[in-house]
Parts: sequence; structure tokens; C-alpha cells
Amino acid sequence: MNTVETVPPHLDQGFIDEAEKIISQYPVSKRSASLPLLHLWQKHFGYVSREGVEWIAQKLELEPIAVEEIATFYPMIRHRPLGKYQFKVCRTLSCALAGSYQLFDYIKQNCNALQEVGHHVYLSEDGQFSVEFVECLAACGNAPVMMINEEEWMDVTKEKIQGILAQLRKK
Ligand code: FES
Repeated sequence: MNTVETVPPHLDQGFIDEAEKIISQYPVSKRSASLPLLHLWQKHFGYVSREGVEWIAQKLELEPIAVEEIATFYPMIRHRPLGKYQFKVCRTLSCALAGSYQLFDYIKQNCNALQEVGHHVYLSEDGQFSVEFVECLAACGNAPVMMINEEEWMDVTKEKIQGILAQLRKK
């Protein structure tokens, strides 16, 4: 295995420092840092690419296949990017009681986001939309609540979803 570390140009020092800190927490077996590093990569880049697997493997002095095996074993690790428009539907109690599960299915169907690309994360074929559940978004009094990218939407109804989708499709 090549022991000369290649640093992809878009990896900033903050990311590398965070990765080093994680690795230092596993002095006995660096291999144990694989999953936390996969999570770190996904947190920064939205999913774990081939490049991510290779970089982590190099960092931990493992063969890429060893990291790949872990990445494919855990369903919460995504191997594809999320959509351009990311729907995050709250599934915590108030929202669940207000119909967020039905809303989730409705959004999935209407965005044609039927392909599961991670743990309960669905992506449309054209890559425009992804739909996933999240926990409480701290607006329980206005359930059901969701986010689209960074914007929060409250008291969501099917009609509201139709209007939002019509707007997004025009962009
Ligand atoms: S339960 Fe959904 S916002 Fe709190």
C-alpha cells in the first residue's frame, strides 16, 4: 500500500485536525476509528465517496476494502449525495401525531424519491429531491414540521407540499 499520504485539495486543515483528533482516541487499534471517520466525512460532504474511503484507509494504514466493508455494512452511511432539495421531516411525537409519517410518504411519492440511498433516506432518480426523517425541530406547537435545506416549514399540509413542489420545479 502506498504510504505517502495524498490530501485531496478540498480537505481543509479543520477537517484534517478533526480526523486526527478522532484517530488519537483509538491508540490501540487505529482500525476502530474507521466508523467515526466515515461519519465525519459524511457530515462534511453529505455522503461517503470512493475518495473518502481511500483517504480514510490511507489515514488508518488499511487497505481501502477494509474501510469499504464497514461503509457498506452500516445503513446510515450514504454512498450517494443527497438531493438538491433536501426534505427533512420531523418524526418526533408531536409531529408523528400530526401525521408526519403520512406526510413523509406523500413527499416521497410526489418527488418520485423512491430509491433508498441510506438509512431511511430516499432520493429521486433525477437527483433533485431527497427525503429523510429527522428528530424534533423544536417547533412542536406547529406540527407537522419539516425543513427543506436550511428553511423550516411549519403546519405542513399536503396542499402546502404541492405548492412548494410547484415552486421548486420552476427554479
Ligand atoms: S416534535 Fe416535531 S418539531 Fe418537535
